Amino acid sequence: MRFIVQPGGALVGRLRVPGDKSISHRSIMLGAIADGLTEIHGFLEGRDALATLNAFRRMGVGIEGPGDGRVRVHGVGLGGLRPPEGPLDLVNSGTSMRLLCGLLAGQGFEVTLVGDVSLSKRPMRRVTEPLGLMGAHIETSPEGTAPLVIRPAKELRGIDYALPVASAQVKSCLLLAGLYAQGETCVTEPALTRDHTERMLAGFGYEVRRDGHRVCVSGGARLRACGIDVPADISSAAFFLVGASVAPGSDLTLEHVGMNPTRDGVIQILRLMGADIEVANPRQVSGEPVADLRVRSASLRGIRIPEDLVPLAIDELPVLFVAAACAEGETLLSGAEELRVKESDRIQVMADGLGGLGVTAEPTPDGIRIQGGPFGGGRIYSQGDHRIAMSFAMAALRAAAPITIEDCANVDTSFPGFIGLAAQAGLAVRAEQSL
Ligand code: S3P
Repeated sequence: MRFIVQPGGALVGRLRVPGDKSISHRSIMLGAIADGLTEIHGFLEGRDALATLNAFRRMGVGIEGPGDGRVRVHGVGLGGLRPPEGPLDLVNSGTSMRLLCGLLAGQGFEVTLVGDVSLSKRPMRRVTEPLGLMGAHIETSPEGTAPLVIRPAKELRGIDYALPVASAQVKSCLLLAGLYAQGETCVTEPALTRDHTERMLAGFGYEVRRDGHRVCVSGGARLRACGIDVPADISSAAFFLVGASVAPGSDLTLEHVGMNPTRDGVIQILRLMGADIEVANPRQVSGEPVADLRVRSASLRGIRIPEDLVPLAIDELPVLFVAAACAEGETLLSGAEELRVKESDRIQVMADGLGGLGVTAEPTPDGIRIQGGPFGGGRIYSQGDHRIAMSFAMAALRAAAPITIEDCANVDTSFPGFIGLAAQAGLAVRAEQSL
């Protein structure tokens, strides 16, 4: 599948992007091991979250839906999962694989986790090593990647672990293993990362102790099913926040967007660049802050992105590179080496794509330097990375000629319906099947 985007246009109107991917994954996982019926609204019907949903179905959990964002999970309790027949295929989803690794490390059965070509290249020792310290038996490939074979452990023991990288996936993996461990499991992170697991565990009545960058759980308590309203994903909203900021004449309202302070780096960075983003109707749903965002076009200027904002905007950095290309002056990013091990090497793939459009973009080991200014059209290779594809779709708003983006099928992993919503807002985009 390829996207073809005509240059120019403005983004106007009101829209709601699909549900938050991180929260959707966790709603299935915690609902599955809770006691009782968990009813979810606003669930992301994208391929990544569906991979998690299917994995739990295959482990004997009764799940109704999804339909229109509604899912009903009939929890089996902490000890109620059943061994699946054959490996669990988590396709493109790093969150599914890393969180499930922790959740399954303490089960009494063997299970194998596999993924697609991209997921099978991503580093997994960051989870298997600390899980090994807890007593888990997990085998990786010689390169430390999937397939992951998880063998039953006699028992898991709580650990006190300092994360070497700021990663919510690793933190969440260890907390989920901690539910099954003897004693207390504590994780200290070098920088604040998204805290949806902690918030949702609390919503399921599970005690979580937090003190600054340290979070602890004790094993053996139970989770009580609850209702979950999943906010719209700020990571999907980010494409529109950037698009409307850079396209002259834009005035767009994004409804019910998740505004968790561990996720709002994109708004902070865009505001530092001079963006005009208004936050209206702030409210709380299911333990998460939510608001409507009104964004109008503005002249952006290049900045040095503060390193402490990097984990808070980790998935939005590719589209922020597009904002930087449209800004006046230079933007400098450092401290973001994690971008190299996402669904693609997002530093290199973005630098190549921007370079192809005529933007001066110099990759560095842990970031990028981008010189803003006018740019042209061309052909972009997204390397099957959903966020790269959508970022370049927004670049067309300011390009001098059409942009063709190859390998876009994975946009469905996080943003089903992207083309329709973007076109409705004013982006001249269409999809075409590649031969
Ligand atoms: C996620 C955490 C982030 C993010 C990913 C989703 C999560 O990864 O990039 O898209 O749901 O916990 P890391 O925690 O590895 O940085």
